Amino acid sequence: MHNALILALLAVLTLTRAMPISRRELGGVLICDGANAQGHCEYGAYELDKCYDLAAPLYQNASTFAPDGEAFYCYPYATSCGGVCTSPTGCTLGAVSFFYEHKFDLGAVGWEDGIASFECHRNETTS
Ligand SMILES: *[C@@H]1O[C@H](CO)[C@@H](O)[C@H](O)[C@H]1NC(C)=O
Ligand SMILES: *[C@@H]1O[C@H](CO)[C@@H](O)[C@H](O)[C@H]1NC(C)=O
Repeated sequence: MHNALILALLAVLTLTRAMPISRRELGGVLICDGANAQGHCEYGAYELDKCYDLAAPLYQNASTFAPDGEAFYCYPYATSCGGVCTSPTGCTLGAVSFFYEHKFDLGAVGWEDGIASFECHRNETTS
């Protein structure tokens, strides 16, 4: 009786773990037009590996870009999704994760009016 229950639980756990994580909406991100999560804020759980355009008032006006603490990171882009980057320095701020030190004050790196779109990816483990 107990064994059957445990086996059933194990089966459920195994199924859950076998689900491809990249299909889950893991990318929770808080985006605000003010620094320190002030002003107009939007929080969403974004699909990974998919580009999202920001809309007004956040379009090229976000000072806070703060991903949640799971193992994923986002590339904020100065161009809209599908846009062609013509800047020799590249058009992304680089990988921004929960641990990014300026996530609550993008003005510190000159990106307070920089983000037009963004795309998030799951951290790949090397083991
Ligand atoms: C940009 O953000 C500021 C707050 O930092 C807000 O007052 C303003 O309305 C926003 N501008 C646009 C064009 O949405
Ligand atoms: C995920 O990757 C980003 C970018 O390389 C890194 O900054 C962050 O620390 C990683 N997060 C975890 C939880 O491993």
